Amino acid sequence: MIAAPLLAYAAISVLCIVKVSTMDTFIAAVYEHAVVMPNISLTPVTHEKALALMNQNLDLLERAISSAAKQGAHIIVTPEDGIYGWRFTAREAVYPYLEDIPDPQVNWIPCNDPHRFDRTPVQNRLSCLAKDNSIYVVANIGDKKPCNTSDPQCPPDGRYQYNTNVVYDSEGKLVARYHKQNLFMSEIQFNSPKRPEVVTFDTKFGRLGIFTCFDILFRDPAVTLVKDFHVDTILFPTAWMNVLPHLSAVEFHSAWAMGMGVNFLAANLHNPLMKMTGSGIYAPDSPKAFHYDMKTEEGKLLLSQLDSHPQHPVVNWSSHASSVKAHSSGNQEFTGIVFFDEYTFVELLGATGNYTVCHRDLCCHLSYKMSEKRSDELYVLGAFDGLHTVEGTYYLQICTLLKCKTTDPNTCGDSVETASTRFERFSLSGTFATQYVFPEVLLSEVQLAPGGFQVSSDGQLSSLKPSSGPVLTVTLFGRWYDKDQTLTASSDLIAQAQSVLI
Ligand SMILES: *[C@@H]1O[C@H](CO)[C@@H](O)[C@H](O)[C@H]1NC(C)=O
Ligand SMILES: *[C@@H]1O[C@H](CO)[C@@H](O)[C@H](O)[C@H]1NC(C)=O
Ligand SMILES: *[C@@H]1O[C@H](CO)[C@@H](O)[C@H](O)[C@H]1NC(C)=O
Ligand SMILES: *[C@@H]1O[C@H](CO)[C@@H](O)[C@H](O)[C@H]1NC(C)=O
Repeated sequence: MIAAPLLAYAAISVLCIVKVSTMDTFIAAVYEHAVVMPNISLTPVTHEKALALMNQNLDLLERAISSAAKQGAHIIVTPEDGIYGWRFTAREAVYPYLEDIPDPQVNWIPCNDPHRFDRTPVQNRLSCLAKDNSIYVVANIGDKKPCNTSDPQCPPDGRYQYNTNVVYDSEGKLVARYHKQNLFMSEIQFNSPKRPEVVTFDTKFGRLGIFTCFDILFRDPAVTLVKDFHVDTILFPTAWMNVLPHLSAVEFHSAWAMGMGVNFLAANLHNPLMKMTGSGIYAPDSPKAFHYDMKTEEGKLLLSQLDSHPQHPVVNWSSHASSVKAHSSGNQEFTGIVFFDEYTFVELLGATGNYTVCHRDLCCHLSYKMSEKRSDELYVLGAFDGLHTVEGTYYLQICTLLKCKTTDPNTCGDSVETASTRFERFSLSGTFATQYVFPEVLLSEVQLAPGGFQVSSDGQLSSLKPSSGPVLTVTLFGRWYDKDQTLTASSDLIAQAQSVLI
């Protein structure tokens, strides 16, 4: 199921290379879309009503796609749930929105052959948008596949329903279909595929891979696409609710691009009420374009040029930190909660200093100089080495410099969006046991710091110049996939998480 399609893709790419020259750079676009939502309803809507709503969203996406193409973009990514929204309370509620999406191996240009399969109006329209504008279009829709009672996993309603990304090439041909593996806790309307699907395809601007939203926190298929299938660029439709201090969209997605050494095209929904905003075009060395807007209700198109084959430097994430002697700060350590995880913190007392803090096997070292030590702001260095079990089960190793919400140490780890303290310099490292570490630098008002920092081959995250704005956090976000376990969080914690996330 994984290997066979890949052979097919390899064959297709050989044919393409004969016809077209390769490109050293390309222009990517992502569209943050303010999706028109369906009404919450207990009874499923008719197919006609469902299609009318999807066409409303496609009208808006059409404008973005045609504008991107006019500006020279070769590919555009649109968000997860960008065509029918996400407020579905049951499997049946989303059913009228679903189409049967064939395997790309059928070699189909829906725009040229719209009646080849039964009832595919949304696929036909997406294909025509790609073809008419001569641009690759990446979209997220729903797939349905009938299943058999002889299949023990077949749901009682006799079908699988999948959260699905589709890609049409610039001639309108379906070239990729990906069923989301790691569903978020509230996605009860969908099934996960039995095995993770590793979907890649080759273009004249490099090898592309695709996954969706919550997938980014797990090994499969995200890390496998980069490590074993050597993709250059990730396409990432998402419906991402921001969680500070470490999981705001622009912050985490740009960090993943840098940590994994790939281009990353992230298109988020736009819904400030639900804390959904933050899209970007990220190269491994720096964000190229990003958008974060909690103030307006408008969508936003971003474009940027990228290298087709970005370099990915090799980093030993523990090398520097293991060579450093612990700095004894003399001041008291304390514990605090960051997104349900209990960290060990130490307060940064002076305008300049060297600190070490450890939690379990992870020790974090920080050397810094603030522009001034303000009495109205509190910063800490924190460490966490443990299994996160709320909204998902995943093992983390995290070193973080954080601004606390107030000067009360009990607020360290709470969400805060603004700060006043600039840093002249910082350097952060940790004794990580994993090679998967994502470097984050987030400034006041949830802004990124392109060109402001770097990661050295010995695993130090360091400033390149004084920070261009006040600092919210500087973080090394490590994922230790080998230690993930299939523990289930207590229903208590899930309820807590839901009240925060939903
Ligand atoms: C939602 O309900 C309102 C009021 O009943 C109606 O005007 C609107 O058309 C409905 N929207 C959709 C997408 O069905
Ligand atoms: C279910 O199984 C039967 C017997 O093996 C087969 O004929 C039929 O095509 C299957 N249906 C689906 C939807 O796969
Ligand atoms: C990383 O560096 C540490 C300390 O220098 C060394 O012990 C370790 O073997 C290195 N890891 C890799 C994967 O090279
Ligand atoms: C912190 O460490 C750096 C080297 O890493 C050293 O140059 C500096 O003097 C130290 N600063 C303090 C305040 O100890």
